[in-house]
Amino acid sequence: MRSAWLAPLLLSLLLTAGGCVAGEEASNKPNFVLMMVDDLGIGDVGCYGNDTIRTPNIDRLASEGVKLTQHIAAAPLCTPSRSAFITGRYALRSGMGSTGRVQVVLFLAGSGGLPPSETTFAKRLQQQGYTTGLVGKWHLGVNCEYRGDHCHHPNQHGFSYFYGLPFTLFNDCVPGEGRDVLADLQETLEQLTMVLGVGLVTLVCVRLCGLFEVSLWLLVPLFFLCILATAVWYVPFILLPTWNCIIMRNQEVIEQPMTVETLPQRLLGEAQNFIKRNADHPFLLFFSLAHIHTPMFKTPAFAGKSRHGRYGDNLEEVDWIIGKITETVDSLGLASNTLMYFASDHGGHLEDSDLQTGQKGGWNGIYKGGKAMGGWEGGIRVPGIFRWPGRLAAGKVVDEPTSLMDLYPTLKYLAKDTQPDRQLDGYNLMPLLEGKAARSEHEFMFHYCGIYLNAVRWHPPGSKFTPVDTECIYFSIRQIYVTFLWYFPA
Ligand SMILES: *[C@@H]1O[C@H](CO)[C@@H](O)[C@H](O)[C@H]1NC(C)=O
Repeated sequence: MRSAWLAPLLLSLLLTAGGCVAGEEASNKPNFVLMMVDDLGIGDVGCYGNDTIRTPNIDRLASEGVKLTQHIAAAPLCTPSRSAFITGRYALRSGMGSTGRVQVVLFLAGSGGLPPSETTFAKRLQQQGYTTGLVGKWHLGVNCEYRGDHCHHPNQHGFSYFYGLPFTLFNDCVPGEGRDVLADLQETLEQLTMVLGVGLVTLVCVRLCGLFEVSLWLLVPLFFLCILATAVWYVPFILLPTWNCIIMRNQEVIEQPMTVETLPQRLLGEAQNFIKRNADHPFLLFFSLAHIHTPMFKTPAFAGKSRHGRYGDNLEEVDWIIGKITETVDSLGLASNTLMYFASDHGGHLEDSDLQTGQKGGWNGIYKGGKAMGGWEGGIRVPGIFRWPGRLAAGKVVDEPTSLMDLYPTLKYLAKDTQPDRQLDGYNLMPLLEGKAARSEHEFMFHYCGIYLNAVRWHPPGSKFTPVDTECIYFSIRQIYVTFLWYFPA
C-alpha cells in the first residue's frame, strides 16, 4: 500500500533534483560575445598606444579585462583568417588557403567557401546547448552546386541565427567609391570594349562613306566580339552590387543591393536584440562588424568629429558600437557570466587610401606591413581583448604569443565540451588569461600568404621573456632560403 504512493513521490523528487542539476549546469556555462572588426590596425586603438583617436569603450574593455599584446591572425586576409578563427585551424587544413593571386571569396555566386565537413566553434557550442548567432559579415561562401543549396551558409556552420552580409562590405557596393574586385581586370575589359567599339564604328563609317571596301566578313565578327566583350565586362562587374552586396536574414535575401547608409545601426540593433532574446540561457554571439573596411560610412553623428578624417570618424563609430554592446550585456546583468572578446581579423590596409582625406586604410603602429602581408607583423598582429568581470583580473596584460585560432579551444573548454575533435592549431587561453600559466603553449606559429609559408615565429620553451618582442625569433622563409643557397651553392 505504502510503496504505491512512495514510488511516484520518490520518482518525482528525483526528477526535480535531476532537473535542478541540469538547469544549474546550463546556467553555469558562460555566454560569449565575440566582436570582430574588419581591417582594424593595432595602432588604431587608444589602449594600444593611439593618443589621437578616441576609443574609450574599447579601452574600458581592456582596463576591466585582459589585453593581449602579441595576438596574431592566422592569415593577413579576411577569408583565410576568418576560417582559421572559427575552425581553430590554419586555413590550409580546410582548403581555405589559396594557391592563386586572389585569396578571398570575390563573387558570392562562386562555389568556394568553408567546406560543409568543417567544424566551427559555433557547431561545437550548439551541441553543448548554446543558442548561437552571427550578426554581420560572413565572407566564407554561400553555395556549392546551385543557387540556394546554401552549403557554406552560416546556418550550416553552427549559427542558428544569421543576420548580415554573406559577403563583405566593399567599394563596389557604393557607386562612386571605386573598385575592389579585380579592379585591373575591370579596367582592361572596359578599355578593350571601348577600343573594339570605336574600331567597329570607324569601319562602318568607312564602309558607308565608300572610302574603302570593308568586308562584311570583318564587320560581322567584330560586331559580335564587341557584344561579347561588353557582356563579359558589364555583366559580372556592373552587376556586382546586386550580386554581392546583399543582406540575408537566415537563408532569406532581405536586401539586394543593400542600403549601406543605415547598415551600422541595423547591425548593432540586431546584435543587441540577439543578446536580449537569449539573456536567460547560454548563448554565443559572433558580432562581425562591417567597419572598418572601405567604403567608409558617413553616419551623421560621427562625420567630421575625429582628428583623422573619415577613417577616424569610422573608428570612433566602431568604438561607440562596442560601447553599446557592452552596455547591453551589463544592463541585462550578464557581465559576470559573459566572456567578451574584441579583435580584428588582420592588420590595417595600408594601400587603401581615401581620396578625400588621404588617410590610409588603417594604422598598424610600429609594425611594418599590413593587410595581405603575411610575413610582416603589421599584417597579422591585431588588438585582442578579453573581459569577464569576476573571472579575469582587471587591467592584466599578456605579452605571450596568442592566436585568433585559440578562441576555438577556449570556447570549447568553457562550454565543457570534452568530445573528441580534429587536430587543432590553437590552445585554450584560459590558463594565460587567468594568470595560472605564464607561458603560451605556442612554440611555433606559421605565417601564411595563401598556401605559401612566408615566415615562422619561434617561441622556444624555457626561454626568458622580455616584453619587447626580442624573444620571438622571427625569420622569413626567403631569408632561410637565401642562407641555404649561400652555404650550399647549386
Ligand atoms: C592613431 O590612429 C590614426 C588613424 O588610423 C593614425 O592616423 C594615427 O597615426 C594614430 N596615432 C598614433 C600615435 O598611433
